[in-house]
Amino acid sequence: MTQRKIIIDTDPGQDDAVALLLALASPDEIEVLGITAVAGNVSLAQNAINALKVVELSGRNDVPVMAGCPGPLRRRLETAEHVHGLTGLDGPDLPDPQKRLDPRHGVDFIVDTLMAEPSGTITLVTLGPLTNLAMALIKAPMIAARIKRIVMMGGAYFEVGNITPAAEFNIYVDPEAADVVLRAGIPVVMASLDITHKVLTTNARLDALRAIGNRAGAAVADMLGFSERFDLAKYGWRGAPLHDPCTIAYLLRPELFDGRLINVSIEVESELTRGMSVADFWQITDRPKNVFFLSKVDDSSFFALLTERLARLP
Ligand code: RIB
Ligand code: CA
Repeated sequence: MTQRKIIIDTDPGQDDAVALLLALASPDEIEVLGITAVAGNVSLAQNAINALKVVELSGRNDVPVMAGCPGPLRRRLETAEHVHGLTGLDGPDLPDPQKRLDPRHGVDFIVDTLMAEPSGTITLVTLGPLTNLAMALIKAPMIAARIKRIVMMGGAYFEVGNITPAAEFNIYVDPEAADVVLRAGIPVVMASLDITHKVLTTNARLDALRAIGNRAGAAVADMLGFSERFDLAKYGWRGAPLHDPCTIAYLLRPELFDGRLINVSIEVESELTRGMSVADFWQITDRPKNVFFLSKVDDSSFFALLTERLARLP
């Protein structure tokens, strides 16, 4: 596989951390040009620290980490400590990072990197609210044509919402940002709850991660063992959904997934359905087909890939 150049925008969160580790463990296929933190699961400042901790855990201190926007375009920030813990990365006891933040603003890093690299060669992977990417598109609209593809974790349709009955968290936090991104004419692959709810971290899968025997495997098992509590209590399933790593797994092994090219539009007016991702799955309208909406996954192969790659880390 040729190496893909990506920028990862993230609000770590335990599942973000697993996605970051999966990408950083796959240098032959993925070149992570940089990681930009955004406000979401917890505050921007804490998310940035968490991103530094995860990069250090991976041993890939060559990858720069930048802080981006501290809150949504228009709305008050709503966070998710009730799921991820006060630090956003509760579970393992990771040391305070020695690595320092790169002083560039995350939005500037996205714009400058897209302008410096050959057009059409960079994939944006977004794991949190889309504030940074939307701000980059507002600041420098010409980058839209230069982005190869966006692979995002966000949205929901048949699985309905997880932060409200209508909306998935990443979209709910900043619906205006999601609207800007989905209207920008950039190819989007959407890993919504409709796919992540089919990727469940069962006890056996968690045991396999811990059995890897390295620091990364132990930390991931501790992370997911913490964050799964909320979803297991809520859904009563045999395992908690593993959201953000679906994006990186799609980049590494797209054949594990299937989906449909459809229109997805974002509700930004209604308070009742704020942030709802309205997916025209049955293609009833003539709205532009702006999203490849993932709907099927080989979850066993997904976890085999994740376990094998985490074993490559320290
Ligand atoms: O709804 C799930 C998403 O919200 C994931 O990205 C998780 O990390 C949280 O940000
Ligand atoms: Ca996230």
